Amino acid sequence: MSLNRHCIYLFAFGLMLTGCKTRQAPPTGLVTKQAMVVSAREEASAVGVSILQKGGNAFDAMVGTELALAVAYPFAGNLGGGGFMVYRKANGDVGALDYREKAPMAAHKGLYLDSLGNVVPGMSTLGATAVAVPGTVAGIFEVHRKFGTLPMEDLIAPVIELLERGVAVTQKQAERFERYREPILEVNGENTWFFNACQVGDTLQYPALLNTLERISKNGRDEFYKGETAKKLAAFIQARGGYVTEADLAAYEPVWRQPVIFAYKDLKIISMSPPSSGGVTMNQMFRMMEPYDVSEFGHNAAPYVQLFTEAARRAYADRNYFLGDPDFVSIPLDVLLSDAYLEDRMQGFSMERATPSEEVEHGRIPMAESMETTHYSIVDSEGNAVSVTTTLNGAYGSKLYCDELGFFLNNQMDDFSAKAGYPNMFGLIGAEANSIAPAKRMLSSMTPTIVEKEGELWMVVGSPGGSTIITAVAQTILNAHAFGMSMQEAVNAPRFHHQWLPDHIVFEQEGFSEALKNALTSKGYHINQDRTPILGKVDAIRVLEDGRLEGGADRRGDDTAVGY
Ligand code: DON
Repeated sequence: MSLNRHCIYLFAFGLMLTGCKTRQAPPTGLVTKQAMVVSAREEASAVGVSILQKGGNAFDAMVGTELALAVAYPFAGNLGGGGFMVYRKANGDVGALDYREKAPMAAHKGLYLDSLGNVVPGMSTLGATAVAVPGTVAGIFEVHRKFGTLPMEDLIAPVIELLERGVAVTQKQAERFERYREPILEVNGENTWFFNACQVGDTLQYPALLNTLERISKNGRDEFYKGETAKKLAAFIQARGGYVTEADLAAYEPVWRQPVIFAYKDLKIISMSPPSSGGVTMNQMFRMMEPYDVSEFGHNAAPYVQLFTEAARRAYADRNYFLGDPDFVSIPLDVLLSDAYLEDRMQGFSMERATPSEEVEHGRIPMAESMETTHYSIVDSEGNAVSVTTTLNGAYGSKLYCDELGFFLNNQMDDFSAKAGYPNMFGLIGAEANSIAPAKRMLSSMTPTIVEKEGELWMVVGSPGGSTIITAVAQTILNAHAFGMSMQEAVNAPRFHHQWLPDHIVFEQEGFSEALKNALTSKGYHINQDRTPILGKVDAIRVLEDGRLEGGADRRGDDTAVGY
């Protein structure tokens, strides 16, 4: 072989290797050239895209999408809740907004305990006593103040049009209405407007919400926190025994935070910082897994499930003990995220045998699943990216619906630890760091995330799912990065979850064989056989190598990608 020929072979081999390293799966989701919104409802994605097409940027589109979800997806979209937003601007600047709800001033550590010190069932989950000070309206106005380019009225206008047109009830939505009908009637009485028409194909209109939004559009942010809406809202909550006052609403402010940023192999992951646990917990998990090449294990094969589970077990144990509102507690992040600490944390890991959770910490508790938060991802034609997760906490929040104003109120107070060692609705047990205090923010698992690859925007991703959000987001990133899936495949792939306590792995119904479960059981893993829940509902966007965008809209819901 001539030298030249040899060189050509070497060159071709080199190209192949480079090709392998950067090779990406062909897209299977919606592909568009310039911009995209992926959210829980087509109507909301379309509102966001209409704003982008009018020349608005990703931040403008966030305002419209967030409000449109409050209309088209009242299950979780909201005016009466809160959320977190992580952004990456086209120039590479990153940041995060915390518009999480806060405890009212009247709240205190023993708020949900009776005279014997026992947690009063339902008090932090159902009705007015569960409601925390909402942050959503303040959040979108703050995003607009800092980064918006179109006038606020122009961003609210398509949502008002949607309200005037009405929203068609989907099959999945009708089922949800039916499932939560009883507690909603229990909290609001038989005459509540909310259940007038909820059959598939019905068109729902929300006249009270239309009035509220028109006032907000006209009077701005203060309408919700200091104006007529604030007065009506505080009076409504207090008349039903709740704690939120006009003074609480007037004092509410969202906070810009430094996101959690870390490297995992050739990725840079940018995610939400406390008071959400998402970024810190995912950081710990990824870095505990980093010494291994998970792609060699195979997608959802036993060694991968083991490694992921052991990392999650350890990270969630830390989450529950150390994390809380950083404005109230000091979190030893420098230790928790240090190489030495994480290496030490994985010392007891073995592929031969599960580490029982008692050996990591103590306690046994039940866990509940649900899907009542919502996430949306946006990329605009400039390359600005916005990743937002917003929630009322439970399904329809506290179930308390303000007929006069036209929206549901959150039950976010349940995300606090009502009593040390007592599980919340997600089975998460908390410690002192997440105890209730006036004006404190409750710890969250919401994980709005943006991922860079080789310095460029690569993925925008997030999910609902309470405590399962973090593992759903982490698995979606790994599906695309380590297991060569397209964005849509990565979102659709079957998921599993472990959260330290209760000490069991939960699997989705499809995609996990009996042989796999038997292999894990033989190594000491406990498997939850009773339930086959949906784990997360991920909405994500991937930037393809040629710069086009691929949407991943979760098949588990009515989620839809729209773009151009
Ligand atoms: O902030 C949190 O972690 C919870 N309030 C999220 C609730 C949620 O995801 C409900 N849907 N499953």
